[in-house]
Amino acid sequence: SSGLLADSLGRTLHDLRISVTDRCNFRCSYCMPKEVFDKDYRFLPQTALLSFEEMLRIARIFVACGVRKIRLTGGEPLLRRHLEDLVAMLANLRTPDGAPLDLTLTTNGSLLARKAAALRQAGLRRVTVSLDAMDDRIFRAMNDVDFPVADVLAGIDAAVAAGLGPVKVNMVVKRGTNEHEIVAMARHFRERHGGQVVLRFIEYMDVGATNGWRMDQVLPSAEVRARLHAAFPLMPLDAAQPGETAERWAYADGRGEVGFISSVTQAFCGDCNRARLSTEGQLYLCLFAERGHDLRSLLRGAHPSGRPWSDAEIAAAIGLIWQRRDDRYSQLRASQPAETATTEGSGRRRIEMSYIGG
Ligand code: GTP
Ligand code: 5AD
Ligand code: SF4
Ligand code: SF4
Repeated sequence: SSGLLADSLGRTLHDLRISVTDRCNFRCSYCMPKEVFDKDYRFLPQTALLSFEEMLRIARIFVACGVRKIRLTGGEPLLRRHLEDLVAMLANLRTPDGAPLDLTLTTNGSLLARKAAALRQAGLRRVTVSLDAMDDRIFRAMNDVDFPVADVLAGIDAAVAAGLGPVKVNMVVKRGTNEHEIVAMARHFRERHGGQVVLRFIEYMDVGATNGWRMDQVLPSAEVRARLHAAFPLMPLDAAQPGETAERWAYADGRGEVGFISSVTQAFCGDCNRARLSTEGQLYLCLFAERGHDLRSLLRGAHPSGRPWSDAEIAAAIGLIWQRRDDRYSQLRASQPAETATTEGSGRRRIEMSYIGG
């Protein structure tokens, strides 16, 4: 087959985001608030986690179904032991026409200074680092474990030096919390790294059910862009790939580019080509899905005839799941009155970002 698999809204499968752990060493209040993710919180038991061999098998099947980009996420993916081994396994995968995949990873950067070179060596192509502030006091408060910003900045430097650039840096903007860091972040990365770091501003999303999201904490991208433009004039760029999350803008003076990810004010469900695999092998068709599809039981269980499921049978099952997909949560939420939107009030039982990796 051509490998082009379309869902019920005509969207083709292109990205697979694999969560490799549900644990994180940070406690960002918008993602893993301390009150919920405390010492009594039950993370997934070891036996529930997919092994690297299982992840490789699933990834290979997804590539046969049309996937061209694989992103490792978490929790914090670098907490998974020997992650470089998984990277090396995935780096060997080839598309039907023999090309390597776009293989990348989203990390909080805390362990990156130590691991960047080994990850590059294993075949990782690039990396995305989450960083919400340059100011050490604000950053320590936002990660809520008192982690110093200098270590993350050193991780970004190490990633650029290791050849993992251009490195994307994701900043979740929360009104009243880190909005004054917008220009400081832009200045730092423009001046230090130019085109080797692409800063992206993310609208705070109503993801999960524990962060107490409220619309008045969202700073719309249009406003972020206006504030940035006043300091450093910007020019619009064309999308690099269809279905991208970020709208791209270049600095008019040539010092690189920035991105705006506006899932609240400008939903991008229309061409959403992303599938998500949880650490325990549940396939989610949307970041805001209420339930997943159990692929682990296909990997570990037996076909009714008693033998294991073949790759082709699992591919067919994934094909059916994708073809029925009609998720477009952000687009639907955008049509509700904004003032009434809160995560508590929504009454839906959504998955947590730390479980599915954003
Ligand atoms: P690139 O390949 O580097 O462009 O990565 P990406 O933007 O696809 O992924 P990344 O992990 O950097 O995600 C950036 C932000 O966009 C995070 O806050 C994600 O949670 C959010 N995001 C990614 N994919 C989706 C999506 O399909 N829907 C929504 N609503 N948000 C998404
Ligand atoms: N809204 C927007 N982005 C979020 N992230 C985590 N929680 C949220 C949220 N509620 C971001 C992380 C990381 C990416 C994978 O998702 O900061 O950059
Ligand atoms: Fe923060 Fe990312 Fe960890 Fe969530 S997974 S607590 S956003 S560092
Ligand atoms: Fe895709 Fe769901 Fe995000 Fe829309 S809300 S872009 S369908 S993951």
